[in-house]
Amino acid sequence: MALDANAMKKLVAEVAVDRYVKDGMSVGLGTGSTAKFMIERIGELVKQGYDLTCTATSVQSEELARSLGIKVVDLDEIDHLDVTIDGADEVDPGMQLIKGLGGALLREKIVAAATINEIIIADESKLVEKLGTKAPLPVEVLRFGHEHTRYALERQGCKATLRMKDGEPFVTDGGNYIYDCKFEAIEKPFFLESRIDVIPGVVENGLFLNTAFDVLIAKADGTVESMADSLAKKEE
Ligand code: A5P
Repeated sequence: MALDANAMKKLVAEVAVDRYVKDGMSVGLGTGSTAKFMIERIGELVKQGYDLTCTATSVQSEELARSLGIKVVDLDEIDHLDVTIDGADEVDPGMQLIKGLGGALLREKIVAAATINEIIIADESKLVEKLGTKAPLPVEVLRFGHEHTRYALERQGCKATLRMKDGEPFVTDGGNYIYDCKFEAIEKPFFLESRIDVIPGVVENGLFLNTAFDVLIAKADGTVESMADSLAKKEE
C-alpha cells in the first residue's frame, strides 16, 4: 500500500533521527510539518535517557520541543551544533534547496551555518529538476521601505507577492515581512543569490546552497533514499 504524505514525513523524520542523532549531541531542530515528526522522535529518545542539547529554528518548534521535555537552549549558549534536521520546500538533484515556506528561513539559515551536518528531510513531492519550478523563493525583508525592496526583487525576473496571514502581512519570528518570489525556474541559483543579497532591505533569502550534508527522501513505496549516498555511488 502506498504511503500518504503524512506517513512519508513521519518515516523520513524517524529514519533521519535514528541515523544521525547520537547520545550526547547538540541538535538543531527544524521547522515545518516534517520537522514536527523529527522533534517528536527526539522527544522519545530523551525519554529513553539520551542527553541531547537542542536549539530551535522557530518559536513553534521550541514550544513543541519543550512540551516534550527536550532541553532547548539559545544558539549562543553553544559553540556549534553536531547535527540539524530540517525540512525543505524544493530539492534539486545536486541537493540544493529552497526553504522558508514555513516562514522560518532566517533562523534556519543561522542555525544551519552553526551546524556541522545539516540533514534535510522531505517526501518525494519536494524533488524538482530545477529550483523555483514548483515553489516560490521566500525572501525575508525589513518592513521599512518594503515596496522598494519588492521592486528590486522583481527586477531579478520574478513576481514577488507579500505573504499574508489572516488579512495582514505575515510577520516572521524576527519581526520582518516575507516576499514569495515566483520564477519560472531558477537557472543560476548561485548568481541569483548574489544578486538578491545585495538588495538593501533584504534580510535573508530562502536559497540554501551547498548547505545539506545529506537529504533523505521518503518515497510512497515506503523506502527512504539518502541523496548523499546516491551521489557518492554515481561518482564511484
Ligand atoms: C520552514 O521555514 C521551512 O523551511 C520548512 O522547512 C519547509 O517549509 C518544509 O516544511 P514542510 O515539512 O511542512 O513541508
